[in-house]
Amino acid sequence: MTTALVLGGAGGIGAAVTRRLAADHDVTITHHGHPERAEQLVAELEKGGARARTLRVDATTEEGVLAAFDAAEEGGDLAVVVDCVGGWDYPRITDLTSEQINDSLSLNLVSALLVLREAARRVADGGRVVMVSSAAARVAPPRQSTYAAAKAGLEAATRVTAKEVAKRGVTVNVVRPGATDTEYMRSITSDKAVEAMSAGNAMRRLGTPEDIAGVVSLLVSQDARWITGDVIDATGGLA
Ligand SMILES: NC(=O)c1ccc[n+]([C@@H]2O[C@H](COP(=O)([O-])OP(=O)(O)OC[C@H]3O[C@@H](n4cnc5c(N)ncnc54)[C@H](OP(=O)(O)O)[C@@H]3O)[C@@H](O)[C@H]2O)c1
Repeated sequence: MTTALVLGGAGGIGAAVTRRLAADHDVTITHHGHPERAEQLVAELEKGGARARTLRVDATTEEGVLAAFDAAEEGGDLAVVVDCVGGWDYPRITDLTSEQINDSLSLNLVSALLVLREAARRVADGGRVVMVSSAAARVAPPRQSTYAAAKAGLEAATRVTAKEVAKRGVTVNVVRPGATDTEYMRSITSDKAVEAMSAGNAMRRLGTPEDIAGVVSLLVSQDARWITGDVIDATGGLA
């Protein structure tokens, strides 16, 4: 059995990704502020016969990212890394503090760079790396300046990494979700804004975590071996 690491693997999108990967991988997931979610998911997976473990890491630190990779490698050769860590809120540009700027870049960009570096060092030949971005990087919505900038940086760094590891047959890609129905998204977004986002794409609904996990599955499959350094828009047709 091959090994997969899902950073943020018990979150809204992360849990859907983890459930898919656990069908044919030994899975290591990380959590940060919600240990109970991660422990419940591991228990569910183990009950179904999968091999899974979770550890708490702060993915904005080098120490945290190294610990996540170390734990995953205990399960065997690392074949898949998926990075679902991230978060945002809605500050106006005129209200931004330097602390908010640093926090957002740290969570969404510094952590992604640390994950890309470790993945480039440690993923086995022929392996797969998938980074989760956001439609914010492309459509630049109001009140998401730091988040849009950080995710755009994540996308650029992913393309660079893909070129550096391609000779080992490793692919490195981005999935770029639009508004996706997760507890976190609902907790920070007004009902009115959720309604507007649901109506804003061609499919006229929110994405589900499973919609995003399906794209991740595609990118980690053998059939996706010729796709690398790419960004897959998973937004239900957001113009
Ligand atoms: N939902 C959407 O509409 C949407 C749209 C576009 C892109 N995205 C992206 O999709 C990803 C998942 O979002 P989600 O909606 O599923 O939210 P979520 O459930 O909050 O997932 C975020 C994950 O990041 C982890 N995390 C947060 N801070 C961390 C830290 N300092 N160190 C390590 N892990 C940390 C969280 O772990 P804990 O819960 O344990 O703290 C959680 O597993 C994010 O990258 C987000 O930017 C989401």
